[in-house]
Amino acid sequence: MALCTSSFFFTFFFTFFLFLFNLQPSVSQQQFTSFNISHSPWLPAQNKTLLSPNKNFTAGFFPLPNSSNVFTFSIWYSKVPPSANPFVWNATVQVNTSGSLEITPKGELLLNGSPFQSAENATTNSTSNSTQLLLQNDGNLVFGEWSSFKNPTSTVLPNQNFSTGFELHSNNGKFRFIKSQNLVLSSTSDQYYNTPSQLLNMDDNGKMSMQGNSFLTSDYGDPRFRKLVLDDDGNLRIYSFYPEQKNQWVEVWKGIWEMCRIKGKCGPNAICVPKEDLSTSTYCVCPSGFTPAIQNDPEKGCRRKIPLSQNTQFLRLDYVNCSSDGHLNEIKADNFAMCEANCSREKTCLGFGFKYDGSGYCMLVNGTNLQYGFWSPGTEAALFVKVDKSESSVSNFIGMTEVMQTTCPVNISLPLPPKDSNATARNIAIICTLFAAELIAGVAFFWSFLKRYIKYRDMATTLGLELLPAGGPKRFTYSEIKAATKDFSNLIGKGGFGDVYKGELPDHRVVAVKCLKNVTGGDAEFWAEVTIIARMHHLNLVRLWGFCAEKGQRILVYEHIPGGSLDKYLFRVNKSHNNNHLKEQSSSLNPNTPQQERHVLDWSMRYRIALGMARAIAYLHEECLEWVLHCDIKPENILLGDDFCPKISDFGLAKLRKKEDMVTMSRRRGTPGYMAPEWITADPITSKADVYSFGMVLLELVSGIRNFEIQGSVVRSEEWYFPGWAFDKMFKEMRVEEILDGQIRDAYDSRAHFEMVNRMVKTAMWCLQDRPELRPTMGKVAKMLEGTVEITEPKKPTVFFLGEE
Ligand SMILES: *[C@@H]1O[C@H](CO)[C@@H](O)[C@H](O)[C@H]1NC(C)=O
Ligand SMILES: *[C@@H]1O[C@H](CO)[C@@H](O)[C@H](O)[C@H]1NC(C)=O
Ligand SMILES: *[C@@H]1O[C@H](CO)[C@@H](O)[C@H](O)[C@H]1NC(C)=O
Ligand SMILES: *[C@@H]1O[C@H](CO)[C@@H](O)[C@H](O)[C@H]1NC(C)=O
Ligand SMILES: *[C@@H]1O[C@H](CO)[C@@H](O)[C@H](O)[C@H]1NC(C)=O
Ligand SMILES: *[C@@H]1O[C@H](CO)[C@@H](O)[C@H](O)[C@H]1NC(C)=O
Ligand SMILES: *[C@@H]1O[C@H](CO)[C@@H](O)[C@H](O)[C@H]1NC(C)=O
Ligand SMILES: *[C@@H]1O[C@H](CO)[C@@H](O)[C@H](O)[C@H]1NC(C)=O
Ligand SMILES: *[C@@H]1O[C@H](CO)[C@@H](O)[C@H](O)[C@H]1NC(C)=O
Ligand SMILES: *[C@@H]1O[C@H](CO)[C@@H](O)[C@H](O)[C@H]1NC(C)=O
Ligand SMILES: *[C@@H]1O[C@H](CO)[C@@H](O)[C@H](O)[C@H]1NC(C)=O
Ligand SMILES: *[C@@H]1O[C@H](CO)[C@@H](O)[C@H](O)[C@H]1NC(C)=O
Repeated sequence: MALCTSSFFFTFFFTFFLFLFNLQPSVSQQQFTSFNISHSPWLPAQNKTLLSPNKNFTAGFFPLPNSSNVFTFSIWYSKVPPSANPFVWNATVQVNTSGSLEITPKGELLLNGSPFQSAENATTNSTSNSTQLLLQNDGNLVFGEWSSFKNPTSTVLPNQNFSTGFELHSNNGKFRFIKSQNLVLSSTSDQYYNTPSQLLNMDDNGKMSMQGNSFLTSDYGDPRFRKLVLDDDGNLRIYSFYPEQKNQWVEVWKGIWEMCRIKGKCGPNAICVPKEDLSTSTYCVCPSGFTPAIQNDPEKGCRRKIPLSQNTQFLRLDYVNCSSDGHLNEIKADNFAMCEANCSREKTCLGFGFKYDGSGYCMLVNGTNLQYGFWSPGTEAALFVKVDKSESSVSNFIGMTEVMQTTCPVNISLPLPPKDSNATARNIAIICTLFAAELIAGVAFFWSFLKRYIKYRDMATTLGLELLPAGGPKRFTYSEIKAATKDFSNLIGKGGFGDVYKGELPDHRVVAVKCLKNVTGGDAEFWAEVTIIARMHHLNLVRLWGFCAEKGQRILVYEHIPGGSLDKYLFRVNKSHNNNHLKEQSSSLNPNTPQQERHVLDWSMRYRIALGMARAIAYLHEECLEWVLHCDIKPENILLGDDFCPKISDFGLAKLRKKEDMVTMSRRRGTPGYMAPEWITADPITSKADVYSFGMVLLELVSGIRNFEIQGSVVRSEEWYFPGWAFDKMFKEMRVEEILDGQIRDAYDSRAHFEMVNRMVKTAMWCLQDRPELRPTMGKVAKMLEGTVEITEPKKPTVFFLGEE
């Protein structure tokens, strides 16, 4: 009996505790596996969610970010944090705390009393006679015949099939994706993009198939959370979720590369222009003769300054195309005058597009307002816009100078104090193969554009039309160069790429003329390459002013930096009598700058030089449209300008050479010197090779000795490795003074300088890691030097042929 009672109590308490235990989570958040009439109504305040069986998806009421009593009924990825936008579907109707979701005895699903659906034109009705609402493993919310997969909003998930009548709209309602293929502007249904063919669906591994056995190239291949989204900016993109990449959605495919090709970015008569580069943000500009319709807001459109009278003229807008609210009428015109006359004659003609390529392309733009105007290098034509004869302004779209210069935005200013940098977004490592492929596509695009541009320019020149943009590199004739350098009489340096002569242009600019050796490739290629180099503007890069490509000569004309190169400041001749193989490159060849005039660089100058270099290289690697590897960073290539502002020279030239050449070149020098280990191993050369070289220069800046020297004599020992030696002194023996440059060791004040020197040495140690993937990117290096990111303890640098300790 007693046994029986105790057993009873045991069971009772056990059940009671189980009950308590069960109750606990249900107070804060209860999870349905399905929602049926016995749970109805479902109120936002109940804090309940519907979970898919595999727990990947959740549905429920979600409070709007800035108001806790307005909710949307949404579906989201359970494991994606709210900060990364986990939402995949939202109901159209928003509800407040007194709203509800209910299943009626008649089998209808009602949200706030009305049928539950997502869009105006839902394909099926949610009043479809069912008893339960389910959330499937693939994120599909199902109620009878109705499903969220058939009624999408802006987002499509893997396994969600495109079908007839299936339509996406951006959350802001401005754009739609229709017929599984076309992007259109909602307000006018004007189309601006087609996918290569109709989209079908995305599989579990992220492969987005299309009609005709093709598919979009994205990062497909492994199971991940993915989504295809029609974004509020009008572009169609595929994103993959990378928990290892700071829990973010990474863009792995996008439909449109040039954002200005998306219609509706600007109001009537305004022209869309890319900011910085073609694929990011845009802004609107009123063409000459027009002014913003609403003050200072060309986004809303532009109006004429002077209404058209009988007498009109045309203003040429280079690389601009547009349509109108009327008809476009393409005709064949024998010449420019004929095209112009056709437009002048017609009162409703707003302007015309014309190509100078002899094709006779003449597009008459008829209507009352210009529409969807945009600037694009892909437009091989100019738009001639009709303005009144009395209009005196000149065209504001002349050539492509503006964009050429802004493609690589100028980053001014030397350090101190470090500015906060919010450019982290661009530092997101690019991991997906696709992304790289897209990048190459972008570059290829720019290339083909450049080629066409050059062709266009040639044609323009032969036609006697001055369409040449100001600010591009000037093409010099060989005799001009010869005159400027007084027949190559003043040799100021011998570099790996060729001899350098000082000269003076007729306009009295002093130049350094570099005659390249062993450069292959045709004239046009060289021209294109030089255009790219000249496009790179940065305070810490030597400016390229012009070039000469004549009779097999390949000559570059640079600004002359009077200060000379860093090695002359860093390494004293009397101290380094043995480094003959590098000395010849410049030190002894500069008659204008005798040794005794040299300043000793103080600590803060050294720091500024390091930071300036890091920023310039980061700019080359990361901010230019095309990634430029320097491949030859060493003190000889760092010139010092006014106020010891460092300027990197010889960038972009490595591309004129092959990897084999570089390697043999380094072997000839007979020293590992500044070359990263991967030059000797067969590993691919990436931007991390520059990081290694930079690290070596950084260490030399601190120590004032060549990396292959110790106590004034060249080391040929296999055991001695400069970075390893410096590491031991700094971090093992804690004898900082021993690695500091003897010339200014006395000026070293551990309180004032330790932090700075420590940062420089630690950064150098990270740069000098044997494995490229362990080295930080150059952007990160700049931040490490600035002190805006924390520097973790580096590992001792070793090289494979020296072995581990
Ligand atoms: C809903 O649940 C969350 C945590 O799960 C809790 O912070 C919040 O207070 C709950 N709200 C209500 C109204 O119970
Ligand atoms: C509703 O679902 C619960 C399980 O979640 C089940 O026990 C119950 O029988 C269902 N009610 C109806 C009316 O289907
Ligand atoms: C939420 O905040 C945004 C701006 O932060 C504002 O435009 C919007 O009107 C707010 N919505 C509500 C419901 O308060
Ligand atoms: C759903 O609504 C949330 C909150 O308003 C919003 O952040 C999200 O972008 C929307 N997502 C979709 C797919 O509609
Ligand atoms: C909630 O919304 C309904 C209409 O959708 C409205 O009648 C009601 O007054 C609102 N209640 C609150 C508390 O805002
Ligand atoms: C809904 O459908 C009607 C007729 O089929 C159409 O006129 C309307 O534009 C559609 N609305 C939306 C938002 O698609
Ligand atoms: C949904 O059903 C209601 C009646 O139950 C009907 O009035 C409405 O037109 C239907 N909507 C669609 C899109 O079929
Ligand atoms: C829903 O189904 C029930 C029985 O399954 C039937 O009696 C009722 O008429 C149906 N309602 C509708 C609107 O089809
Ligand atoms: C999508 O289409 C495939 C066949 O193309 C089919 O097997 C699958 O069931 C469909 N999925 C949905 C959710 O309709
Ligand atoms: C969904 O969840 C299951 C089980 O937790 C998991 O195996 C699967 O990989 C998840 N799906 C995706 C796309 O990550
Ligand atoms: C300019 O745009 C119109 C309308 O989109 C198009 O038909 C025409 O081919 C374009 N012209 C050029 C030169 O790209
Ligand atoms: C231009 O449009 C006007 C009406 O806006 C029309 O009368 C005229 O015929 C059109 N001209 C051409 C060449 O299309």
